[in-house]
Amino acid sequence: MAEAALRQLPTTGAISGILEAFAFFRDPSFAKRRFERHGNVFETSMLGQPMVFIQGSKAIYDLLSQPDAIEGWWPQSVQLLLGRHSLANRNGASHRARRRVVAQLFSSSALQRYSPDIIDMVEDLAEELKTAEMPLALAEKMRSFAFSVIASTVLGLEGPDRDELFSDFKIWTRALFSIPIALPGSPFAKALRARKRLLKKLQQVLSQPIKGKGGLDLLAGGLDEAGIPLKDEDLVEQLLLLLFAGYETTASALSCLMQELLLNPPAETWLREEVDYLCWPPEASQSTIAYDPTHAPKLDATVSEVMRLTPPVGGFFRRTKCPLVIDNVEVPENRVVQVALTASNRHGIGDLEIFRPQRHLEDGCSVNLMPFGDGERVCLGKSLAELEIRLMVVGLFRKLRLTVIPNQDFTLKQLPSPTPRDGLLVKVHG
Ligand code: HEM
Repeated sequence: MAEAALRQLPTTGAISGILEAFAFFRDPSFAKRRFERHGNVFETSMLGQPMVFIQGSKAIYDLLSQPDAIEGWWPQSVQLLLGRHSLANRNGASHRARRRVVAQLFSSSALQRYSPDIIDMVEDLAEELKTAEMPLALAEKMRSFAFSVIASTVLGLEGPDRDELFSDFKIWTRALFSIPIALPGSPFAKALRARKRLLKKLQQVLSQPIKGKGGLDLLAGGLDEAGIPLKDEDLVEQLLLLLFAGYETTASALSCLMQELLLNPPAETWLREEVDYLCWPPEASQSTIAYDPTHAPKLDATVSEVMRLTPPVGGFFRRTKCPLVIDNVEVPENRVVQVALTASNRHGIGDLEIFRPQRHLEDGCSVNLMPFGDGERVCLGKSLAELEIRLMVVGLFRKLRLTVIPNQDFTLKQLPSPTPRDGLLVKVHG
């Protein structure tokens, strides 16, 4: 078969990218509209930064299957707030070495160690919800849960130390996708100061870990690319990255999942038919596998469907180190490419705009998802995130019934991760 002719990179014609950036932050269909006009690969500009958007399995495969031709990239605000040591800002051997060190926090034995604490947190939350004043904003509870899993379970922080970290962390996150100019009083200036306090606190945690708590001992002896032990200033930036990467993302998946189920009673009933037969809490030795896809396929399908419709990370980035052909389109060297997951997951034939978890269990289901990214930079916390989500859904569903309060705004605020605009107000029935 003759190969299709290569196409030049289509462009929206935007130059300053001010209107494009404004539209990107406000319009959830930003990428979809432009893909419809220009095809699966197009270029635009975001506040002066040329950016190529891609969608569809072929385009994503063409990009990620050439690891030597691409490298990681983040907007400047994120780069500066994460820091130069952060593995998110590194490439090649230095990225791989830090990934190996950090990955030790998410091995199956580490997850086994964290599970009892996560189960306790789910139990505590269920009790708290039973007696809480109604209506209650469930999304906020999912956020503090996701933060506590990383801060307490992984880093071993408790009580006031954790609360202090949380309040600085919130100031820091607010500026992550902002204009990185530290004018006095600006969110970015406040975030830089919060970053200093966060690193100081993380440094303390690292030097005096609370005995028997968290997983920081697993990092001991971590080596850089030259085989030299990683310095504390390097390690604390990796810990800061974990808070950034694991907090809003997991909270978003949980809130969106709860919202979809509560707004779709048939889907909730379908899932409950399975959950009602699962043992809660799971036996200690089984806690990391009790609700995995083999034991709880409907739960897995429901989580997949939520992440398909509303991926917590709507897009991730790479930069081309040399000219590349992506889905028959020529992309020049030194271009930032955004893999547009949200648009990609809804692109194709069939009922892809509706929430229907059953699709993932049907023969011949061709939905190809990558909510955790792929390739050399695939999410390091994937197994922890999946574990937290599964334990939370089974624990809450076994202990409570929730209903949504009518007349609230169920649309999603998109950044930093999708979350119900009114906070998902619910009533709890014990
Ligand atoms: C539902 C929850 C989560 C989702 C959807 C998610 C998604 C992602 C995505 C899309 C990426 C970029 C991958 C790429 O560029 O190919 C990523 C990277 C990363 N994630 Fe997650 N994530 C989640 C939870 C977590 C958690 C709980 C942690 C750790 C506590 C974590 C740690 C990381 C780290 C360290 C990276 C950077 C990897 C690298 O650059 O090599 N994530 N995640």
